[in-house]
Amino acid sequence: MISKGVRFAGTGSYLPERVVTNDDLSKTLDTNDEWIRTRTGISERRFAAPEQAASDLGIAAARRALDAAGVAPADLDLIICATMTNDYVIPSTAALIQRALGAERAGGFDLCSACSGFVLSLGAASGYIKTGAAKNVLVLGAEKMSVAMDMQDRTTAVIFADGAGAAVLQPSPEPGSDVLALRQGLKGDVDVLSIPAGGSRRPTSVETVQNREHYIKMAGRETFKFAVKTFSSLIEGTCADAGVTTSDLKVIVPHQVNQRIIEAACERSQIDMSRCVINIDRVGNTSAASVAIALDEAVRAGRIERGDLVLLVAFGAGLSWASALVRW
Ligand code: UT7
Repeated sequence: MISKGVRFAGTGSYLPERVVTNDDLSKTLDTNDEWIRTRTGISERRFAAPEQAASDLGIAAARRALDAAGVAPADLDLIICATMTNDYVIPSTAALIQRALGAERAGGFDLCSACSGFVLSLGAASGYIKTGAAKNVLVLGAEKMSVAMDMQDRTTAVIFADGAGAAVLQPSPEPGSDVLALRQGLKGDVDVLSIPAGGSRRPTSVETVQNREHYIKMAGRETFKFAVKTFSSLIEGTCADAGVTTSDLKVIVPHQVNQRIIEAACERSQIDMSRCVINIDRVGNTSAASVAIALDEAVRAGRIERGDLVLLVAFGAGLSWASALVRW
């Protein structure tokens, strides 16, 4: 069966319990609450417990999404987990989530594209559904970014955070619900945002560990400028692809990269901030989980209803970007 449309049947998210405030960070870093709030929009974020890995956060978000969708784990056909902080190199985080949920029939894989991962996963999921290869697809963004952050580097330690979000996608029984347009891009850059060691280019050694090369390195200013331009052209381009305008959007769910980046992009694209979902003040930047968590919070707050046009946009290492325009 070739499906005409794809719909979001349910969403869920999970934030770990431990709240870390800006004041907490300034106890060990040369930073302060005012700088972090005014430069990023973040007041606090969550860090996972030592015994929690990315899959544990994902499993909690997945259970909530499955409940909301009324789908049993045994009925899942596919699990796609967007993450850059996978529990192990192998097996995939999707495999660990599959086992924990008891999703015996499901296939699955991880998708690694840093902060763009969840939005790219939605494109993959909708392809599986539209070709008839899968019916119930669980898509997740799950990150334990606190293991990839150098807590001695104030440019990254104040930004990133832990959490997970999930959505169950299905063929659409209602006319209209669909993923209407998708955009994706790469700049092919390793200099502005990377984790230099731990991969096949620079395997782990005593030297790489001593040099702290397993942590995120970021050239903030360069990323900032690129992000503003990319976000606003993604917003306008994706709407144009589907023959709608930005004024038709009910809400936009951007990657919670930096409040100033989001505001600048919305201003360029003439989108009032009241239509933009923002939780960076409480949640921080949770990379691949970011759009998924913000989407779930918007759905649960009643900001998104059947028939609404919703635009998801993300940007991250790669440099990569992705968007999905959804008729809810
Ligand atoms: O999700 C993945 C993609 N990530 C991004 O796109 C991140 C994009 N970039 C940003 O969000 C911002 O560039 C940052 C929040 C990282 C930095 O904000 P900024 O306004 O670009 O600051 P800056 O790097 O230009 O630094 C301004 C000043 C510098 O001091 P001087 O040279 O003016 O004396 C920094 O050393 O702020 C200093 N600084 C800090 N001060 C207190 C940098 N980080 C901190 C800090 N606390 N945490």
